[in-house]
Amino acid sequence: MNRIAVLCSGGDSPGMNCAIRAVVRTCLANDIEIFGIRRGYAGLLEGSQHQMDTASVGNILQKGGTILQTSRCPEFIKPEIRAEAAHILKRKNIDALIVIGGNGSFNGAWELHKEHGIPVVGIPGTIDNDIEGTDYSIGFDTAVQTAIEAVDKIRDTAHSHDRTFIVEVMGRKSPAIALHVGLCTGAENIIFPVQEEKEVDIDTIANDIKRGLKRGKGSSIIIASEGETEGLSHYVHNELLDKHKLDSRVCILGHIQRGGNPTARDRFIATQMGHLAVKSLLAGEKASVTAEQNGQVVLEKLENCLGKKFEVEEKYVEIVKTLSK
Ligand code: F6P
Repeated sequence: MNRIAVLCSGGDSPGMNCAIRAVVRTCLANDIEIFGIRRGYAGLLEGSQHQMDTASVGNILQKGGTILQTSRCPEFIKPEIRAEAAHILKRKNIDALIVIGGNGSFNGAWELHKEHGIPVVGIPGTIDNDIEGTDYSIGFDTAVQTAIEAVDKIRDTAHSHDRTFIVEVMGRKSPAIALHVGLCTGAENIIFPVQEEKEVDIDTIANDIKRGLKRGKGSSIIIASEGETEGLSHYVHNELLDKHKLDSRVCILGHIQRGGNPTARDRFIATQMGHLAVKSLLAGEKASVTAEQNGQVVLEKLENCLGKKFEVEEKYVEIVKTLSK
């Protein structure tokens, strides 16, 4: 193992820079040449590798985003495109690839390994925290913290005006951000990702608001996952108004949740994961993921981390329901 490359893929997440820094400096400490690939798999295909040194990762640990930039590369599902990528890596004498991203990015890495024998390590990086095989993915804590701070501010004005707010958080398919934000902000209701608007139980939401009003509670916060249909929060607003004569305001937090300085938790985990990723390659691992399990950063088989976690943890939903009554 002489040369390793690292890239970020999929949506960025705060803490990716901590992982990049740890990868680069662990490589250098072990006399491995390390190459950064810009803009994910798309950049790999364009041949964008550049050699990194200690200084290239100086002063980045505290910054959100990723200095390597990232992209989604749908073409990578094609075997012939992966063959091209493998050819580029081999031509540049790159012995292994570290991929920081979500489960889509891990699937690409897994195929690259299976088809072309390239050793790969995945570092979980997505604010959605929805990768199978790991309890945690880098960026989730920061995203949740950002959303909580926003909802706290919305609470102030909601209370002043006796208003209901529908606050939309990220997570097209993942319920994780909505669940944590809902629980941490004392939300009255949480809407988890839906594929179609009609799956939202408007009557229950309305009844909860009305029950609150009866007992003198003028304001309510509903946390809504963005889900797979754009404009879900506006749909909920319109339905509450048309069917139940309940007015509300909509606030879509959007990509603000993907930026910002990583929290201590994200720095702590990302740094360990970046370090372990390199160590695992040096130890001869061929296809693994740096996972968090039972509070420890450990290695998991890549093939166990290819799926998405969709499940809503009911025990937390129960707490939200009980406390908002
Ligand atoms: O990175 C994950 C995520 O932020 C999801 O929560 C969200 O649904 C999606 O990415 C948004 O993707 P894009 O960057 O393409 O708008």
